Amino acid sequence: MSNINLLDDPNTDFYAFMKKGRIIGRGSTRLTYRCDKEIVIKVPKPRYFDLGQAQNEIEAGVYENASQKKFLAKVYHLESDFMVCERLRPIAKNKQTGSIINHLCSVGKEELVDEIYHFIHQLSDEFHLHLMDLLEIGNWGIDRKGNYKLLDYGCTYELYTEIFEKVG
Ligand SMILES: Nc1ncnc2c1ncn2[C@@H]1O[C@H](COP(=O)(O)OP(=O)(O)O)[C@@H](O)[C@H]1O
Ligand SMILES: [Mg+2]
Repeated sequence: MSNINLLDDPNTDFYAFMKKGRIIGRGSTRLTYRCDKEIVIKVPKPRYFDLGQAQNEIEAGVYENASQKKFLAKVYHLESDFMVCERLRPIAKNKQTGSIINHLCSVGKEELVDEIYHFIHQLSDEFHLHLMDLLEIGNWGIDRKGNYKLLDYGCTYELYTEIFEKVG
């Protein structure tokens, strides 16, 4: 099934994808489930529901209002307990940490460094998003056309402190 069908079909039951349980990523407050090749849903962890849902709401709001969306995973739909997004291929290998800027240099994509660096700073300024979080390689992925995009941009400085206190 293509993403167009899945998104346009009023009978699509996204809860069925949660029940199937094909988790493809785990963050501090959210789980990511595969729907098909192009779509994921991001679901707050039951234990941290409020924090996970707050991240979903911020991410959806940023996607809707950002002046530049080129480097953002698409958010298709926000619900009160999950969010539907474009599926990316995460860049980081298990638990790898580091900055997207170093990564771009190490894979010979220097031409993207300035643009992505400015994009991250502008996004952080515009929405008060945590700068280090935006730089973190674990929060970046590659879309089906090979474009680099942020897959996690739901953390403001305020929320970062709260997550740090509650989740660690
Ligand atoms: N759009 C996406 N496409 C594919 N995988 C994703 C996507 N968004 C998140 N993931 C995976 O799920 C993990 C958890 O999602 P994330 O948004 O980082 O949650 P948290 O805000 O709790 O850190 C990510 O580290 C990544 O591996
Ligand atoms: Mg994350």
